[in-house]
Amino acid sequence: MRKHIVAGNWKMNNGIIQTETLIADLKKQEKTSNAEVMIAPTFTNLWHAFQSSKQSGIEVIAQNMHFAEEGAYTGEISAGMLKSIGIQTTILGHSERRAYFNETDESLAKKVDAAMANDIRVIFCFGEELSDRKAGNEASVVESQIKNALFHLSADAFTNIVLAYEPVWAIGTGETATPEQAQDMHAFIRKTLAEKYGNDLADSVSILYGGSVKPNNAKEIFSKPDVDGGLIGGASLKAEDFFAIVNAF
Ligand code: 13P
Repeated sequence: MRKHIVAGNWKMNNGIIQTETLIADLKKQEKTSNAEVMIAPTFTNLWHAFQSSKQSGIEVIAQNMHFAEEGAYTGEISAGMLKSIGIQTTILGHSERRAYFNETDESLAKKVDAAMANDIRVIFCFGEELSDRKAGNEASVVESQIKNALFHLSADAFTNIVLAYEPVWAIGTGETATPEQAQDMHAFIRKTLAEKYGNDLADSVSILYGGSVKPNNAKEIFSKPDVDGGLIGGASLKAEDFFAIVNAF
């Protein structure tokens, strides 16, 4: 059975004090669902967040990492560094990284390899732009993003891969994909996985939806059979809203 996961991507928000406060608030929330809960603070707050979240059932994860093990990459963070403070999962390939930091399928394939080599679980993000959807190209864009960055992996590696479909036009815009649009794309992603790796593997991989998920729309989106959870931006910055989404399962 694949897992339900709700992950909060805090992006470049919250200094150390706000991080402390938000984690304290998150720990006060009641969890009534079976979803795994994750939060992704910025690098400077990871260690502190990790320490504060121990025994809370909330996993602290990274937003990004570099593909090299170490060396002359000013401003970057390696898989080993994340591991050294206890971090076991990272987001990779977020559309903001692709758009503003020139991340490509090729560089992401290298990052995925570095994560696998270090036994770090990856939440791999991808999704089409509005222009792709208007042109009816959303499926082919998503297919090539997945194939180019992930299809060199062995089947075994997928125990450490979570997929996150985040249509760019729905991120931070207040405009969500309809539950049907999300379901259609998630079913297509699972079919793409099945064609390469077989049905059993495709059925075992969690596929999250991201893009303006809020307490008032989470239940309907999560009710779709191929939607296994959410990657939450804005609504993850308020403890009550985030747990309303966690508890939408
Ligand atoms: P919003 O929930 O703010 O649209 O952000 C989604 C996202 O980018 C999560 O990674």
